[in-house]
Amino acid sequence: MNYVNNWRPDLPRAARIIQIGVENERTRTFVLDLHLAARPGQFVMVWLPGVEERPLSLIAGDPVSFTVARVGPFTTALHQLRVGDRVWVRGPYGNGFDVRGQHLLCVGGGYGVAPMLFVARQAIAASRRVTAVIGARTAAELLFTDRFAALGCAVITTTDDGSAGARGLVTDGVRRVLEQGLPDEVYACGPRPMLEAILRLCQAEGLPCQLSWENKMRCAMGICGTCEQNGWLVCREGPVQRWVPIPP
Ligand SMILES: Cc1cc2nc3c(=O)[nH]c(=O)nc-3n(C[C@H](O)[C@H](O)[C@H](O)COP(=O)(O)OP(=O)(O)OC[C@H]3O[C@@H](n4cnc5c(N)ncnc54)[C@H](O)[C@@H]3O)c2cc1C
Ligand code: FES
Repeated sequence: MNYVNNWRPDLPRAARIIQIGVENERTRTFVLDLHLAARPGQFVMVWLPGVEERPLSLIAGDPVSFTVARVGPFTTALHQLRVGDRVWVRGPYGNGFDVRGQHLLCVGGGYGVAPMLFVARQAIAASRRVTAVIGARTAAELLFTDRFAALGCAVITTTDDGSAGARGLVTDGVRRVLEQGLPDEVYACGPRPMLEAILRLCQAEGLPCQLSWENKMRCAMGICGTCEQNGWLVCREGPVQRWVPIPP
């Protein structure tokens, strides 16, 4: 007998946690028994009944995986779950990144490294060259450096305290890469000040860039207006914004 899958992506769907990776003291990666056709840069809404529902960027859609930093009530509750526990997921949402050009520079700060790994995996599979610049406060907080290297990316790391890689901000690492030759396009996800600094660097060099922004979200479908930022709905028109240089 043939079955038609009539599941609607906007309805929360129960999924079981099948693997939990401890990345560092406050960051874990969750893998679910759920498979979604998703693009790098897209996110899912994850609901814990009685707690909250929050957007989380995908590292992969097949199976659904995300990396979560423990910062407040929702992320603390998520960190307390074990393999076999259930979460409810809707999505994927958002526009995602477009893999363009032959040489991509992927920049990640904090858990923003996770969606960059999804971009890098897709780009390497399409025979593109990827340089990854990964930043964190300390060596212990650097995420996925080995996974980028295993994909075949050139990896540059920076830490605020110099405990691994070059001492300084992730944007210092980006500056050094740009001095050695320009990539075709820059991709970034991380804290807002990091994204703003990368945008300025790209504008100075005349480079196109794709930046993934965050804002508070509720519906994730472009209905409630919670995520509105300067007339732009981050959930539906973003979270990725592409900037291209205007020819003189
Ligand atoms: C499109 C999108 C994708 C996202 N992807 C991810 C992801 O992949 N992984 C992930 O962990 N989170 C991600 N987030 C953020 C996530 O949705 C939660 O808002 C965040 O994890 C905090 O939720 P909370 O309820 O635990 O804490 P909240 O109660 O919302 O926040 C607790 C406190 O921590 C502060 N805070 C909130 N977020 C952060 C942060 N990231 N770093 C430091 N302090 C913070 C708040 O200002 C507040 O003071 C994403 C958000 C968006 C919009
Ligand atoms: S979260 Fe409701 S419009 Fe974006």
